[in-house]
Amino acid sequence: MTGKIIDFATKEEVLIEALPYIQTYEGKTFVIKYGGAAMTDEQLKQTFAKDVTLLRKIGINMVIVHGGGKEITDAAAKFGIETRFVNGQRYTDDQMVRVVLMVLAGAINKEIVHLINRNGGNAIGICGVDNGLLKARKLTANGVDLGSVGSIVSVNTSFLQMMLSNAMMPVIAPVAAGESEGILNVNADVAAAAVASALKAEKLVYLSDVEGILANGLLVSTLTETEAKRMVDRGDIFGGMIPKVQSAFETLAAGVNKVHIVDGRVKHSLLLEIFTDEGIGTQMVHDHSKKGKDGSS
Ligand SMILES: Nc1ncnc2c1ncn2[C@@H]1O[C@H](COP(=O)(O)OP(=O)(O)OP(=O)(O)O)[C@@H](O)[C@H]1O
Ligand SMILES: [Mg+2]
Repeated sequence: MTGKIIDFATKEEVLIEALPYIQTYEGKTFVIKYGGAAMTDEQLKQTFAKDVTLLRKIGINMVIVHGGGKEITDAAAKFGIETRFVNGQRYTDDQMVRVVLMVLAGAINKEIVHLINRNGGNAIGICGVDNGLLKARKLTANGVDLGSVGSIVSVNTSFLQMMLSNAMMPVIAPVAAGESEGILNVNADVAAAAVASALKAEKLVYLSDVEGILANGLLVSTLTETEAKRMVDRGDIFGGMIPKVQSAFETLAAGVNKVHIVDGRVKHSLLLEIFTDEGIGTQMVHDHSKKGKDGSS
């Protein structure tokens, strides 16, 4: 699919191929985890804004959850605040929480919203603190203190539904209101999964800087939980892919139909996944599902 050139003769075929998907997804909810090159490359930013606007316009309820790790580290350095990682996870002290708010809930969130709205997408930028959208408690990961980092305990779905039913596109910065603490930083993959689960979304799509999940350098187009666990145990899935894969299967267990990892470096990868029979990237499915694109066999 990558770099596929669509000429005039096939344009109509592409549109016709999309029709059943448009009919299936009208009125359904998609949650997109937005990050990586799609969020930093100028051209990819533009195509992402167009893609999500198109999906919204054909009647899909779109919810975006974005990351911003690199920008947070850069901004912290400008303020003379050192970034410290504990077991590969960012340690978030009180000063860092303020940087996270400034960068994630501030500049990054508003830039995404502005870009989508220039395309007519009715985006509204919020963070987990607004109207108690995301409530969290301090995360204790195997006894390791990560500072003000939260695990989500609740999602205010009626707030999201209120926006969706008014044709708005919520763009969420993943910080949360601590139940008994201050504001907590939350992993963007985990926040996207929690939002998708709470909304019982049709799809959760992670846009990342990889083709999908790779095994021995080859793309795995369909991944079951059993196989995913095996790959994590063998070390074939590591680092930033672990929270994606783990939260993906929790999301499926919560009733979300499909979870995909899609290459955000490819222009319009979101549309190609959703509107073509082949799909792209990796889809994660229940162990009992067959390999048809939408779990149908
Ligand atoms: N089996 C695998 N297949 C593909 N990528 C893998 C695999 N195992 C680990 N990875 C790593 O996971 C990374 C993707 O996760 P990462 O957290 O870096 O990106 P992201 O979540 O898209 O962006 P961000 O965390 O900045 O929002 C890949 O770049 C790759 O190094
Ligand atoms: Mg990540």
